[in-house]
Amino acid sequence: MILRTSLVFVTVAMTACSAAEDRPTSHMRQTLPVNAEPSPTTQNADTLAEDIRAGEKLYASRCGACHSVDANRIGPMHRGVYGRVAGSVAEYNYSDALIQSGVVWNEQSLDQWLANPQDFIPGQKMGYRLSKEYDHRAIIAFLKTLTPTDATP
Ligand code: HEC
Repeated sequence: MILRTSLVFVTVAMTACSAAEDRPTSHMRQTLPVNAEPSPTTQNADTLAEDIRAGEKLYASRCGACHSVDANRIGPMHRGVYGRVAGSVAEYNYSDALIQSGVVWNEQSLDQWLANPQDFIPGQKMGYRLSKEYDHRAIIAFLKTLTPTDATP
């Protein structure tokens, strides 16, 4: 809500600028990221809930081609991934590199993995990288909610 309001404000400000100046786009580049991406230090319960919602959508669009929460597909299932030892889902055929990595999935390791799986664990087989820092935070917030349970309704 606040975000949308500030974007509207930027748009209005830009329109005003473009009347006065020749290059309104340089204003846009400088102003938008500041408003669009809240810094982690300002995070509170509301922004966490927003991150989780955003993360769920990003998960569907960025990870959903290969992963799902409760079934192994091209990649392993993700329920319970947060806190789990890498390469530990039974019945999924991991690369040896991932199994032998000894990594435990937490905020830091997931962040490094998503930024560049091959740099983080050479020889792994996930052919996907996620560049935006905010997307990492949102997706990790979502993955954290996928707690292990047998009591699925
Ligand atoms: C192109 C297909 C593909 C996409 C897209 C993809 N993955 Fe993967 N993912 C894989 C494969 C394959 C593996 C198994 C890697 C291995 O065994 O070396 C994997 C493994 C993982 C693991 C390790 C899980 C474990 O049990 O140790 C995590 C975490 C993960 N992916 C997260 C994600 C997230 C989050 C996204 C979306 C941002 C994503 N992946 C997108 C194919 C994909």
